[in-house]
Amino acid sequence: MNMIRKPLTLILAAQVTWVRGVSQCVVPSTVRSTAASGSQVYESKRAVSEYLLFHFGASDDIMPYSFGPKSALEFPQRIAELGAVHTANKRRALDLGCSVGGAAFHLSEHFDEVVGIDFSHHFVDAANQMKLDGKMGYQILEQGQIFSERLARLPQNARPERVTFAQGDATNMPASLGTFDLIIASNLLCRLPQPKKFLDSVSKFLNVGGNLLLISPYSWLEEYTPKEDWVGALSNQYSYDALIEYMKKQDVPLLETHREDVPFLIREHQRKFQYGVSDAIVFKRI
Ligand SMILES: C[S@@+](CC[C@H](N)C(=O)[O-])C[C@H]1O[C@@H](n2cnc3c(N)ncnc32)[C@H](O)[C@@H]1O
Repeated sequence: MNMIRKPLTLILAAQVTWVRGVSQCVVPSTVRSTAASGSQVYESKRAVSEYLLFHFGASDDIMPYSFGPKSALEFPQRIAELGAVHTANKRRALDLGCSVGGAAFHLSEHFDEVVGIDFSHHFVDAANQMKLDGKMGYQILEQGQIFSERLARLPQNARPERVTFAQGDATNMPASLGTFDLIIASNLLCRLPQPKKFLDSVSKFLNVGGNLLLISPYSWLEEYTPKEDWVGALSNQYSYDALIEYMKKQDVPLLETHREDVPFLIREHQRKFQYGVSDAIVFKRI
């Protein structure tokens, strides 16, 4: 699968060095952290390293300070468990915007088959390397130009043979993907140029009785989503309320069955972290 979203391709063309076609684009490692910058940031070496640490790193590497928010650690594991606990049939799971694959590998402990899709070629390459080799070396930023070496390893109970990764666009998925018992879209919604297009199509990939787990900090930025396409968050309606209203209008009938706050922590460097609290909502296809 190699679905290219045109506007992003244009942005990339202006800012990256093309080596050999789209799948080999290189973004300078000097780009800002994934806290900002727009979608092209997810092709950067820095983003791959930040997410390898976020998804596979040791807790003490992600947050070495004893006073830090430890409850925000192990995010990929916690969201995979949240999805699994609410889902009765555990045949097929889909992780949309899977990044380097941490949650997909945790899902493989529970589901017979897991598919991970991400728009970033470099994230998917890293996820595939984790699947094939079970490990991947990377560097974490300490300060300025000082880096330390780290080795990402698969979660202990992961079943990599059950997991497949593909580059693709969550807003433009082919019907040939089939249907799933669980679809997770974690911290994806507010990183999409067309979140409503995504919401309009995603439930068609759910089996009856299956769950859509939408997780989002509603961290809207115009670098990713034009203001007119935000889901709520403009004047008098918060994103959760706008989202529920929007999902009620879908052709595919959905029922909200669970909601909880899910904290997460991404290390940027030795002394800087992104702490977020995502809103996690489980929708059941009825
Ligand atoms: C904030 S990260 C979240 C990654 C991961 N789900 C997590 O929770 O750690 C957003 C992810 O969405 C991916 N992404 C952005 N637009 C996408 C699209 N149209 N289709 C699929 N993935 C997309 C990015 O490449 C990135 O991996």
